[in-house]
Amino acid sequence: MEKFKFLWCLLLSGFILGACSECQVASYNQGINVIPTPKVLTVGEGKFKLSASTQVNIVGDAAIIADYFMAKINQSTGFVLAKGQASSNVIELLVDSTLELGAEAYTLDVTADKVVAKAKTPQGVFYAMQTVMQLLPAEIESSVVIENVAWTIPVVKIEDEPRFKYRGMHLDVCRHFNDIEFIKKQLDVLAMFKINRFHWHLTEDQLWTIEIKKYPKLTAIGSKRLEGEGHYHEGFYTQEQVKEVVKYASERFIDVIPEIELPGHALAALTGYPEYSCTGGPFQIRNVWGVEADVFCAGKESTFEFLENIISEVAPLFPSEYFHIGGDESPKTEWEKCPLCQKRMRQEGLKTEYELQSYFVQRIEKHVNSLGKKLIGWDEILEGGIAPSATIMSWQGEKGGIEAANAGHDVIMTPGNWMYLDHYQGAAEVEPVAIGGYTTLEETYKYNPIPKAIAADKVHHVIGAQCNIWTEYMYTSDLVEYFIFPRVIAVAELTWSPLDAKNYKDFERRINNALVRLDGHHINYHIPLPEGPLSDYVAYIDSTILKFKNTRNYPMVYTVDGSEPTAKSPQYANPLSFDADVVVKIATLLPSEKMSKVRTLTVKKEELSAAFTGETKAGVKMSKLDGHFLNAEAYAKANFVNPIVVEYFNSFSHTAYKKPHVEMYEGYFEVSEDGVYTIASDNEELWIDGVRVIDNNNKTKRHLRTKSTKALAKGKHPFKLVMNNSVYGGWPNCWSANTFHYKAPSSDKFTKVNASQLSH
Ligand code: ACM
Ligand code: ZN
Repeated sequence: MEKFKFLWCLLLSGFILGACSECQVASYNQGINVIPTPKVLTVGEGKFKLSASTQVNIVGDAAIIADYFMAKINQSTGFVLAKGQASSNVIELLVDSTLELGAEAYTLDVTADKVVAKAKTPQGVFYAMQTVMQLLPAEIESSVVIENVAWTIPVVKIEDEPRFKYRGMHLDVCRHFNDIEFIKKQLDVLAMFKINRFHWHLTEDQLWTIEIKKYPKLTAIGSKRLEGEGHYHEGFYTQEQVKEVVKYASERFIDVIPEIELPGHALAALTGYPEYSCTGGPFQIRNVWGVEADVFCAGKESTFEFLENIISEVAPLFPSEYFHIGGDESPKTEWEKCPLCQKRMRQEGLKTEYELQSYFVQRIEKHVNSLGKKLIGWDEILEGGIAPSATIMSWQGEKGGIEAANAGHDVIMTPGNWMYLDHYQGAAEVEPVAIGGYTTLEETYKYNPIPKAIAADKVHHVIGAQCNIWTEYMYTSDLVEYFIFPRVIAVAELTWSPLDAKNYKDFERRINNALVRLDGHHINYHIPLPEGPLSDYVAYIDSTILKFKNTRNYPMVYTVDGSEPTAKSPQYANPLSFDADVVVKIATLLPSEKMSKVRTLTVKKEELSAAFTGETKAGVKMSKLDGHFLNAEAYAKANFVNPIVVEYFNSFSHTAYKKPHVEMYEGYFEVSEDGVYTIASDNEELWIDGVRVIDNNNKTKRHLRTKSTKALAKGKHPFKLVMNNSVYGGWPNCWSANTFHYKAPSSDKFTKVNASQLSH
């Protein structure tokens, strides 16, 4: 907290101290910064000044909302506002059920004397007040009192309502579990941006996270998995905790939608209750990412009884009109082999396993409906025939959503290209490992949930959009926030604001204000990192030039004397050219003066490493060591056996990680020109000329993220490549290519080393 206070002081001393004319207002507080941008907003002359003597006038059913915002205002301003009916210096919250407004709509009229927030419902007034907060300086979201801020609201008139009724965020708490304090923190912030649905992905192959009293083994066994690194990852919510979250969310007008996955992504459940699978098990909870082949058996009546009992226990915990049953990625391999599943197909006249899946979902749908809920499923539930009243979540692109809407079903658009916030939001070389993809803030923002291919008389079936947060690679709650923010704020705008009011350039400006609000909530949001150089070790022969950029064109500050950069360090303007060794430290600088993580690059002169001139033979030597070794330190002490000559590095089957071992390859690697090479590999280690150029120890090895440089003379160079066939970070190393890649001095492309370049 102390550190946080210090940051605020630093910010404020730079920008807001003293008199509060516009020129002294921090750049991020200038102008109108409301997100999502309102439907109609006109700015007038003057300002309303919030002070300790401002009164709050409550008309109609708005007392709870008033209390919520008065408490927030108290935290950051220190003002203890009184309730009263003053004629000026008053904020009026008015709920009138006779108003001709939508349930989530509001009007806001700010004059120098009065702020009047009107709506038909408490939810509408809640949104009006979120807008009021966003018209105040960003520091209004601070959790500690900030002095010397001009707490003013510009004179405006706003008429606002959402474009879509469903504005959602999904969170997978099964790949990495997050506790309810974390969930509540996210809900606080989502509500600021008028997000109104939280889709809670509670069950998976890798964890079952909700207490079911009737089936205690679901959590006793299914909520704990042994990771490849040898430690347990565990967690589940008691029903009391679930109720607490649901209540907390409802106070913020966020509807919580539970997801209980079926018929696939079910291994955590089947580990405790293998009798509901086709084979009867036994099973171990999955500790690698991806999709498990064992699913719920569609042939056994007892499976349906089990699932219906679970759903009956879960549904009453959630007042939501919706219940999500998953339905995605359910392999049919076990159903094809299972006599009971095959018998069911014959009895029911089902021609394919897809139709069996449809039968499964439709039975569950009847049960969900009998509990007064509407079923949501991922778009695979379209295969083999859609359940009659299902709402479709379109994730495999927009195709499923288009098909479902045109067939008269409601849809929620969550297509991967824009709505999967587990994607990279910057270059893989500098960002934390991600599942893949590349979805910047701008890409997410650009998404329009109504594809052209939906017929005009069917577009009303698109009830909204949602971003999905799959947490395979989000090993900590800080990382979860890093992937969510700020992209979820783009989702808030694209689901609320009218299409013609969207403007990315202006959004990019307003986001700078939103980020300071996130600071008030201690959110670890993404700040674009300095990109450009592919490797943090930069070898050069005579001289080198480093060019930097970042995904939002923010200024970058740097040092070349080894010191840590600060906001006052020189700003990067032109490519940096070096002909002497140096350490470059560079960071992206936000308008708030907050910096990104510092990127450190070592720039080092190298002689061309001499080539080996002796005779060599085709192939490389491979020696092997069976066993599970976590890292180089572990296998360095062991004896490799069986050096044999192989033509190339082994390739592996998908399940090879179940036979852990280490393979070490030694030989020569031939290059065809002199100069600095960039080398990349997803293997554990790569040594060239006795130097470890790639060290992936204790890293999740994906996407060729680890790169280095080395000056090599034309010819053959001794190398050693180590493939550690283990699981790290949930990723089996055998799922990455067992090889290395290089970029030659005269090329701008990486090439995979080929067998003709290898010898021993
Ligand atoms: C999904 O991403 N499998 C819904
Ligand atoms: Zn079966």
